[in-house]
Order: sequence, then structure tokens, then C-alpha cells
Amino acid sequence: GDVFTYDPGFTSTASCDSEITFIDGDKGELWYRGYPIEQLAEKSHYLEVCYLLLHGELPSEEQMVDFENRITRHTMVHEQMHYFFRGFRRDSHPMATLVGVVGAMSAFYHDSLDINDPHHREVASIRLIAKLPTLAAMAFKYAMGQPFVYPKNDLDYASNFLHMCFSVPAENYKVDPALARAMDRIFTLHADHEQNASTSTVRLAGSSGANPFACIAAGIACLWGPAHGGANQAALEMLQEIGTVDRIPEYIKRAKDKDDPFRLMGFGHRVYKNFDPRAKVMKESADEVLDLLGIENNETLKVAKELERIALEDEYFVSKKLYPNVDFYSGIILSAIGFPTSMFTPIFALSRTVGWISQWKEMLSDPQNKIGRPRQLYVGSDKRDYVPVDKR
Ligand code: CMC
Repeated sequence: GDVFTYDPGFTSTASCDSEITFIDGDKGELWYRGYPIEQLAEKSHYLEVCYLLLHGELPSEEQMVDFENRITRHTMVHEQMHYFFRGFRRDSHPMATLVGVVGAMSAFYHDSLDINDPHHREVASIRLIAKLPTLAAMAFKYAMGQPFVYPKNDLDYASNFLHMCFSVPAENYKVDPALARAMDRIFTLHADHEQNASTSTVRLAGSSGANPFACIAAGIACLWGPAHGGANQAALEMLQEIGTVDRIPEYIKRAKDKDDPFRLMGFGHRVYKNFDPRAKVMKESADEVLDLLGIENNETLKVAKELERIALEDEYFVSKKLYPNVDFYSGIILSAIGFPTSMFTPIFALSRTVGWISQWKEMLSDPQNKIGRPRQLYVGSDKRDYVPVDKR
């Protein structure tokens, strides 16, 4: 019969050519379209990064204004979506709500579903980038029992998101520009990461010709798992569970125990075997935000820093090349801003949407593109005859 390469977890299989994102796991490097992540996090801003990922080049001033206008024109969601939200229980996890409402976008926006029409593709992309913050904020408000807050289009992307999450109609909420900057940086650091599990899911879903909203909903579903995007929630909850520095050794011991399924959440990465460059930027950002908010001696941060110090010196973690990843520090910033842990993964999802779309578009315009269809090594029963139930 046919002979197949066996590669569980795809540790050595390239599924596509891509011009979007480059990772060097040994050197700890990450570039979007050739630009190092550190430079983009410091000097650029999220919507400019979105333009770069989608179009391949940094925008001129005029192109940037035009792109921002197109995004802000699409930040509102169809009013009927409000009713759709009301079908969910208030105590649903916001990721559960998000998978549902993003999937439902194909039912609300069927004038942009034709993937063979470049105009449809463009409108669907803009809609997704523009509406994901609105939908994530609505999931947050809904869970808190507060009224939905409409987008405010004179605010930048990150400020608008904070406004939709934290503004309450009876009060005059003002977005702190420094927190908006930290939020924007979190978006930028999560914007793309080449062929990770959720991106590969989006590509695989898209390879059958499925519409973009359905594909992004598939990506969100995959991202939710604790080994992937769900790790940011799990990491902060782990730090809170550890609680105090003196309890760290107990958890380190558990993480090393082969018979204990416990892992240090926010540690390790399939590709980064030196350090995660996103974690470096995130750590600096966490210090800045806590400083700014006057949060001193934050117990969780103390636990995080001490855990990192101990793990980096521990033979187990050193030999397995396990370092803090992006999710280790992002939760500290998000909780300082005021988000509950259940919102961490929805924020990852909205940040990654542009990466998913850029990869989906690249795939559709690739002449090599065909439906993704892995094979298997069959290890089941040999051919056999059916036995009636009274003879079994
Ligand atoms: N704590 C303790 N041991 C670990 C950890 C950890 N966090 N991560 C890996 N190991 C061990 C693992 O037990 C295995 O040991 P052995 O070789 O003795 O069996 C070895 O290190 C290699 O691990 P693996 O699971 O084969 O590696 P992988 O490349 O399949 O997994 C990973 C990568 C990120 C899923 C894994 O490191 C992990 O589960 N980390 C915790 C969850 C996490 O933080 N995920 C976020 C990843 S970055 C952002 C994102 O993708 O969303």
C-alpha cells in the first residue's frame, strides 16, 4: 500500500510556504514580515501591525488613515446580535460565547461570504478585525450583567476596547492612555505566530472553501485549550493558587513528577528553546503597568518572579529547555488593568484574528493551495466478518 511519513504533532512537517511570520526558536527571534517583534512592540501600534501583516509592507500615512477609517466604520455589530447574546447563560465562559457569536457572523454578514470574490474577502477581513473587540467586550459585559457599551470611533483600537469593557453608562469613564498603550502592546505581541495549532486549524478549515467567519470561529475553538491560548488564564490562576513564595518548591516538585499531570502553566514552547521574545517584552510591560498603577509588592508578581528564578536554575527545566512563554506575564498586566482571568483568552483571540486572516488570505492566493487532508497509519483490527449479536 501507500507509504506515509509519520509525524504526530507535526514537529517536523511544514504545511505551507509563508511570507508572514518568521520564528527562530534557538535564537528566540520573532519577526512579522521581517520586522523584529521588539521594534514593533516599542515603535509601532497594533493597527499598523495589522496592516503590515495583511499587506506585507508598513503603510504610508495616507494608507494608515484609510485603513483606520475602514476599521472604525465596521466596529458596530448588527443590532440583532444583541438578541443572539441573550440566548447564552450569564455564567457562560466568554470564550464559549465568542466561539458561538463569531461562528454566527456568517449568518449576519452573508454579503461577504464568497471567498472567490476579492472584495468579499477584503470586507470580511475588515469586519472581523473591527468587530472582534466589540464582541469580546460584549461577552464580558454580558457575563457581568451590565449593559452593552457601543464602540466609540474617535478612540484608537485599544482605547475603544477598554472603553467598551469598563465604561458604565452612569459614569464618565476615561481611558488611561498608558493602560491603552499596554493593551495595544499585548495585542501586538499576540498578532501572529506562524503555523501554531489555531492558525493551522484556520488554514485547514479554509482549505475546504469554508467562509472566513466559520474559519475564524474554528481558530477560536482551538485557541481555547490550556496547552495553547487557554494557558494565559491557567497561568495566572496557577500563580494565584500558589499564592505565596514559600509554596513554590511544592509546585516545582509536582511539575517534575512524571506521575503528576501538573505542568507549570506559561512555561515551555514547541518552537522556542532559548527564550520567548514576547515574554521578555511582556515582563517589562508588566513592571511598567504595576508601577503606573502604584501596585507595589504585588504577591502574584512576586510569586511569578521567584518561580521564574527557581525554574531557570532547576536542572529539569534547564535540560528540557523550558522557559517562560508569552502567557506567563500577560495575565499580570491584564488583571492589573481590571480583567478577570476568564477574559484573558478572548483577548488573545481578538489579537490573533489578524494573524489568522492574513494566513487564510495567503493560503487562498497560493497556487499550491489544495484541501488539507492528512493520512494515517492504520493500526486497527484486520478485516473481519460481522457476527450477529446472539453469537457474540
Ligand atoms: N511544566 C513541566 N514540564 C513540562 C512543561 C511544563 N510547562 N512543558 C513541557 N514539559 C516537559 C514534558 O513533560 C516533556 O517531558 P518528557 O520529555 O520527560 O516527557 C518535555 O518537557 C517536552 O514537552 P512536550 O509536551 O513534549 O513539548 P511540546 O512541544 O509538545 O509542548 C507546550 C509544548 C507549550 C504544549 C508545553 O510546554 C506545555 O504544555 N506548556 C504549558 C502550557 C503553556 O504554557 N502553553 C502556552 C504556549 S505559548 C502560547 C500559546 O501557544 O498559546
